[in-house]
Amino acid sequence: MEKKELLYEGKAKRVYLTDDENTVWIEYKDSATAYNGEKKAEIVGKGRLNNEITSLLFSKLAEKGILSHFIKKVSETEQLVKRVNIIPLEVIVRNYTAGSFSKRLGVEEGQKLKYPLVEFCLKNDDLGDPLVTDDQIDVLDIAAPDEVLLLKENAREINTVLTDFFKEIDVRLIDFKLEFGKDADGQILLADEVSPDTCRLWDIHTNEKLDKDVFRRDLGNLTNAYETILGRLGGPTHV
Ligand code: C5P
Repeated sequence: MEKKELLYEGKAKRVYLTDDENTVWIEYKDSATAYNGEKKAEIVGKGRLNNEITSLLFSKLAEKGILSHFIKKVSETEQLVKRVNIIPLEVIVRNYTAGSFSKRLGVEEGQKLKYPLVEFCLKNDDLGDPLVTDDQIDVLDIAAPDEVLLLKENAREINTVLTDFFKEIDVRLIDFKLEFGKDADGQILLADEVSPDTCRLWDIHTNEKLDKDVFRRDLGNLTNAYETILGRLGGPTHV
């Protein structure tokens, strides 16, 4: 497979075309951003860690029958994925209170929710990714009601599988964000990444934060936290 011209550059990744129109080449960058790009840093090794962790998790999800865009890892910082049209929604699953949920609704972080909550935010940096209701998604033609139902079902199923994976390595999956896309056949696939950049992961015994909150809230060394996750998942660590 040949890497061709740059198609798109985001905050954390570059996407390149390949010689196959249905495959794109993703390069994970060392950039860290938070608060809609207000806080920025270059963190050496972060691209490798997220690529390794995402590749591992997508492979584990595939073993459980969960379809994603992931094809294979091609280097420490790169992977091949199916080309999809991203549905412009952030699908957020919450098992415990934290982050924007706690802030907006005035509840303490770390409380187990009665059941996993699925929320949708519109992917729009200029608007700060606002929450949207199912009806707003429908009237704005962002996705059809049956697709919204499918996204919720998929998100819940992915949550069940990921919660178990993380429990096996003594990590509590607090919440996470998913993105989905449609491939050339119109099939909805899990896309983007599943990594400590997009999940809140707390040590089950100590509640130590092993995710991007380390960077957002200046809690310590981000690469150490991500290396811990990669190491516990059985991946190739550099420490
Ligand atoms: O900030 P908030 O509490 O809404 O985030 C919920 C989850 O979604 C967190 O795990 C966070 O890392 C993830 N998220 C993300 N990208 C965003 C917003 C949230 O990965 N733009």
